[in-house]
Amino acid sequence: MSSIGVVPGSFDPVTLGHLDVITRARGLFDELHVVVVHNPDKRAMLPIAQRVSLIEKALADAGVTDVHVTSWSMGLLVDYCQEVGASVLVKGLRSGSDVSYETPMAIVNRKLANIETVFLMPDPAHGHVSSSLVRQVAGLGGDISPYVPSAVKEFIDANGLPD
Ligand code: PNS
Repeated sequence: MSSIGVVPGSFDPVTLGHLDVITRARGLFDELHVVVVHNPDKRAMLPIAQRVSLIEKALADAGVTDVHVTSWSMGLLVDYCQEVGASVLVKGLRSGSDVSYETPMAIVNRKLANIETVFLMPDPAHGHVSSSLVRQVAGLGGDISPYVPSAVKEFIDANGLPD
């Protein structure tokens, strides 16, 4: 049976930290899915379809061509996992606050459907990078290029930020 991993998140926008986790997770499974999910606790910057497309472009630019990128809005994340036959979620863990944030979700996802969550430590170069930081810097006109794939920087330069 082939192993299928899922990297979920809001990816609003995808960062170099996400890209690091995705490319490393790719080596751990026969098949890897990146799933963009709306997080109702966060005010969205980019439409979900745009986030998917930026992840696809960033991965293509990085030479990673065999990751399935999609979105999910049909219910629980574990429903997606069961639909595609995945049994493992992969997330990055940057700090103690990430541990507090991720622990309940990992426990709930295991209780809901026996889906395990594994955590990858970030490359130290990206340990401080988050989408919310990028949204804040971009919103105030700062340079986001140290934190995001060039596809994201080019998209925001070309289109500005949504209202
Ligand atoms: O990048 P984020 O915003 O930290 O990702 C959080 C996300 C989207 C993975 C999380 O909110 C999620 O899994 N949402 C799907 C709804 C769900 O399944 N909730 C119950 C288990 S946490």
